[in-house]
Amino acid sequence: MRVILPVTQKINDSMRDDEWICSKTDLKGVITYANDVFCRVSGFSADELVGQPHNIVRHPDMPCIAFAWCWDTLSQGKEWRGQVKNRCKNGDTYWVDVTMTPQRDEEGKIIGYFAVRRKMTQDKINEMDALYKSLSAAEGSIEERAKLSRAQIDELYRNSPLYPLAHPEAAEAEAATAEEGE
Ligand SMILES: Cc1cc2nc3c(=O)[nH]c(=O)nc-3n(C[C@H](O)[C@H](O)[C@H](O)COP(=O)(O)O)c2cc1C
Repeated sequence: MRVILPVTQKINDSMRDDEWICSKTDLKGVITYANDVFCRVSGFSADELVGQPHNIVRHPDMPCIAFAWCWDTLSQGKEWRGQVKNRCKNGDTYWVDVTMTPQRDEEGKIIGYFAVRRKMTQDKINEMDALYKSLSAAEGSIEERAKLSRAQIDELYRNSPLYPLAHPEAAEAEAATAEEGE
């Protein structure tokens, strides 16, 4: 997270249950497509979104390790599902349940990513808000978090409960070794 933009305490819940926020990115997370619902809810026009890194809607309350987990999963060619607190252009908040999928060419090479997002229930928002608050405690204040280097974020991520989610095989092997030692 490089720039800390102002946020309001207002929640934008204008997304309907039957709507999807969709976007596509290149390999670096630069937006190549934004659907109308994305534009309406975020308050950005398609012209303002396309060509920008997806952190244009990043909310400063989101822990860095959540995105380290997301990218670690995607770069292994896997689908990532998570819940994200996003920031509208005017600083309001919108929460989404997102599934990100690698987009492949005919030879199976990853050429970009595709994301679809649904509205979240208030119960799920409350649960994730509490989880992210506890996860971001290790990252310091919002200002300190913005100054973390990639290496520092990776280190925090590797020692977090999110890492085994992207590496279930390693976690299983570790559990088996621990069992043998008992
Ligand atoms: C397909 C795709 C969709 C993404 N959607 C979002 C999103 O809705 N909100 C968000 O904050 N980051 C999203 N990201 C992650 C961003 O690229 C970025 O990693 C994140 O905002 C953290 O940015 P930072 O490392 O500059 O702090 C998405 C990435 C991909 C590949």
